[in-house]
Amino acid sequence: MRMRHKKHGEERIAACSAYRIGFDDLLRTRDPQSFFPVPGPLHLEIGCGKGRFSCEMANRNPTSNFIAMERVPNVACNALENARARYEGVTGTADNLRILIGNAEHLAELFPEHSIAVIYLNFSDPWPKTGYAKRRLTHTRFLNIYRQILIPGGLLRLKTDNAGLFAFSLEEFQQAGLEVLWKTDDLHHETGEYAEQNVQTEYESAFSSQGIPIHMAVVRFQV
Ligand SMILES: C[S@@+](CC[C@H](N)C(=O)[O-])C[C@H]1O[C@@H](n2cnc3c(N)ncnc32)[C@H](O)[C@@H]1O
Repeated sequence: MRMRHKKHGEERIAACSAYRIGFDDLLRTRDPQSFFPVPGPLHLEIGCGKGRFSCEMANRNPTSNFIAMERVPNVACNALENARARYEGVTGTADNLRILIGNAEHLAELFPEHSIAVIYLNFSDPWPKTGYAKRRLTHTRFLNIYRQILIPGGLLRLKTDNAGLFAFSLEEFQQAGLEVLWKTDDLHHETGEYAEQNVQTEYESAFSSQGIPIHMAVVRFQV
């Protein structure tokens, strides 16, 4: 694991090992539930950044298990420390959140078929240049992997500030034959379940405070 520019990064990550799933351990076992004390529906956030979203979702949904995946170790270090802080001094916190340092390119190797109930993509990198479209986490290439690892009827929940990425994603969903259950171009001015139960991410708060509208789509994968 390469740690650039993060003071004592490796030591800080090691100090949070109770809240981490080792990439190689998951690769070897392909048994994500074994990293939690109690089995439960598995939720996966891809590109969790500093982890605020998954921490709060894990608090609100104590009978589900959350894995927050982040490819940049420096950033994942913050997520790990936030996951640890969630427990410190708070009795009764469910032990249902783990951070996974790794790249979504490896999802099919890490997770067994039909093991995940919900995937969250929050403010994923838009990769605006056409030549990089395949890197977008809603490209058909990734949708095919999600189809493999999601349970039948499993959900993908996407939030983004980027209108271009949102339009691209909706096209990809349609081409893949996925069912868009709900969508909006302005989440923070919506009513109803998805808006009222929304948990803001770090990027979302920053964009929203600048008056930038948030797009959201909830998509169901069929069997
Ligand atoms: C723009 S940030 C958003 C962070 C957070 N989700 C939020 O909304 O505050 C995107 C994050 O996704 C991570 N990321 C991008 N591509 C990824 C991939 N293929 N696998 C895992 N993480 C990825 C980046 O390192 C970055 O931390």
